[in-house]
Amino acid sequence: MSRFSELLLSAVLLCGSPGAAEAAGHFPNLGRAATPDEVKAWDIDVRPDFKGLPPGSGTVAHGADVWEAKCASCHGTFGESNEVFTPLVGGTTKEDIETGRVGAYIRGDAPQRTTLMKVATVSTLWDYINRAMPWNAPKSLTHDEVYAVLAYILNLGDIVPADFTLSDKNIADVQKRLPNRNGMTTKHGLWDIKGKPDTKNVACMKNCTSHVTLASSLPEYARDAHGDLAEQNRKVGAVRGQHTGGDGDAVATVNPGVALMKSQGCSGCHGIGNGIVGPAFRDVAKRYKNDKDAESRLVGHVKNGSGGNWGDIAMPAQTQVSDADVTALIRWILSGSPEN
Ligand code: HEC
Ligand code: HEC
Repeated sequence: MSRFSELLLSAVLLCGSPGAAEAAGHFPNLGRAATPDEVKAWDIDVRPDFKGLPPGSGTVAHGADVWEAKCASCHGTFGESNEVFTPLVGGTTKEDIETGRVGAYIRGDAPQRTTLMKVATVSTLWDYINRAMPWNAPKSLTHDEVYAVLAYILNLGDIVPADFTLSDKNIADVQKRLPNRNGMTTKHGLWDIKGKPDTKNVACMKNCTSHVTLASSLPEYARDAHGDLAEQNRKVGAVRGQHTGGDGDAVATVNPGVALMKSQGCSGCHGIGNGIVGPAFRDVAKRYKNDKDAESRLVGHVKNGSGGNWGDIAMPAQTQVSDADVTALIRWILSGSPEN
């Protein structure tokens, strides 16, 4: 068991069911010892040296099937992702695979960071997929499916060939081809905090900069990549988002339905003319064109959640939206979602 699992487990034991030895001494009559199976269910982390990695294997071809069925709806057929989620694949080259450093980082010309650009340890990918994906059904994959789907992702990045079988036996060889394997830094004071952490700067005493540019300011190419951030932030209180979607006057001529779909969180899963996780709103209007009862039925579907009408993924109940807004949204959708 790794240190992390041990810590987690002792935290759980302290809260809920103390281990027998300590419990008997410190907390008599409280809880019981965790069973070996309970410990096993918690203890799933995989370390960079592959300690904790369960045996198994999967081919790229099988991975493509798993991917198409369980991942592509959110991450795109080729890992390019839909407009909401960041791409998993792209931005790495043959040369990066040889050197273990992603050239786009060194040159600073990457428009966006993909998973294959970022990740320095293949064990992290295996672990993350195994514990967290698919997003809507985490821990539902078998170990062999995790190997297979990871092989597929690695093949999309040309890290392994199309006829490859990834397994616990050869995953260490794959690590030696990971594009960013030499890109991880430990020189930031957070890794090893003997001595001082990240406080190496010396206060400026003369000719100091009068204007500080934040390292995290929004670069020009990223503006409007995900619509107007200022509008999307309104739900969480004070408006902190920058206007990234053009000037203020243009925003004023937008149809209220468009603003409502964004402010009520529909646009994470629906586009007006394009499907994302859910169908395009214009396709919804087409399907129910001659259906007189559609309005009241769809209001119910949005409020209570619904599934099975468009695909495998269900829509969660949209309880955050008021009745009046749901009705307004459905009327706008059924009228063909005019944008202005
Ligand atoms: C319903 C949408 C959805 C589905 C289906 C889905 N994912 Fe994800 N995936 C996400 C979201 C959202 C994130 C980001 C989660 C976060 O940051 O907490 C993510 C993140 C990831 C990441 C890490 C990305 C990064 O760079 O941090 C990987 C790898 C991944 N998913 C693989 C998969 C695989 C493999 C499957 C299929 C077995 C899958 N996903 C299915 C929504 C989905
Ligand atoms: C987390 C993703 C998600 C969000 C957020 C979401 N939807 Fe959906 N929506 C879906 C999915 C998936 C379906 C398809 C369900 C199905 O197959 O029946 C769907 C279906 C629909 C349908 C068609 C229902 C039917 O029975 O034909 C309408 C209308 C709709 N959504 C409106 C909205 C509105 C309005 C909002 C915002 C208040 C919203 N959705 C938010 C995922 C979402």
